[in-house]
Amino acid sequence: MNDIISFGVIVAFITYVRLFTSPLSQIAQAMTSLQSTGAASERVFEFLDEQEMSDESSFAKKLETKQVKGNIEFENVVFQYDNNPKPTINNFSAKAKSGQKIAIVGPTGAGKTTLVNLLMKFYDINSGDIKIDGVSIKELTRENIHDLFTMVLQDTWLFDGTIRENIVYNNENVTEEKLEQICKTVGLDHFIKTLPHGLDTDISDNDTVSAGQKQLLTIARGMTQDTPFLILDEATSNVDTRTEELVQKAMDKLTEGKTSFIIAHRLSTIKNADLILVVNDGNIIEQGNHDELMEKQGFYAELYNSQFEL
Ligand SMILES: Nc1ncnc2c1ncn2[C@@H]1O[C@H](COP(=O)(O)OP(=O)(O)OP(=O)(O)O)[C@@H](O)[C@H]1O
Ligand SMILES: [Mg+2]
Repeated sequence: MNDIISFGVIVAFITYVRLFTSPLSQIAQAMTSLQSTGAASERVFEFLDEQEMSDESSFAKKLETKQVKGNIEFENVVFQYDNNPKPTINNFSAKAKSGQKIAIVGPTGAGKTTLVNLLMKFYDINSGDIKIDGVSIKELTRENIHDLFTMVLQDTWLFDGTIRENIVYNNENVTEEKLEQICKTVGLDHFIKTLPHGLDTDISDNDTVSAGQKQLLTIARGMTQDTPFLILDEATSNVDTRTEELVQKAMDKLTEGKTSFIIAHRLSTIKNADLILVVNDGNIIEQGNHDELMEKQGFYAELYNSQFEL
């Protein structure tokens, strides 16, 4: 305005500044791209470096879901994680008869989840054997074993999709009535009614579901399957005690005639188990039913009583 610098000079100045800074910012952008490439390739190579799972195509034995009686036997099982200096399971032996409800209790880190992982053949045992109806799991394919079990695990998982898809999962023959029935038994019906689209509400955003509701959804998913074995690893740990009791009752009805393994820290939920295995440091230190173990005044009795001392 004061005619000190002409308009043309200002335009030229700004253009030159742009010309100078744009390659600089391009370099900076290239650097960020390189960094994300680095981080991503690390993950890709980690995946490629994973050990191949052992080939099982030659295994001829197969247990049919419908014909399995439901006996499981652990024989002197020893197991050590590759990156762990000492064995997690030492010489574990136990027998589960068809239709029994087996509870596994013990302190945190005792090896309860590890036992389940071994039973499902997620890891191969170092020595000893696990037999399903007398057939060693070493002679069965992973796929076959997974078909025999329903699992509700400690860490819940939901995938992107609607509530219906999350419950029905890969199970084709779930009728609408059965689905409603299941939601009612696990106490999800109220939660579903409050959602805008009911069962068809999208829950891709995991934050919209509470931890307890997540557990109930995974339990409902487990209930749609019809398998001879059932594994519940802390399946109701995030659910309030009243709902837990309701789910427990429904479960008991559902598990009639099935062999079930139940891991729980709240010992009141496993009081009625046929056999309670008390595990510590990878060994069974006590076994029996609730009354027998309470009479013994041992580790279990101490664990049980500690829940009421405050
Ligand atoms: N993938 C793994 N690699 C190495 N060590 C592991 C692995 N998973 C578990 N462990 C170790 O094995 C031991 C038993 O773990 P596990 O998960 O079986 O305990 P848990 O009895 O299920 O405990 P919680 O009651 O907390 O669920 C722990 O000391 C743990 O550090
Ligand atoms: Mg565990």
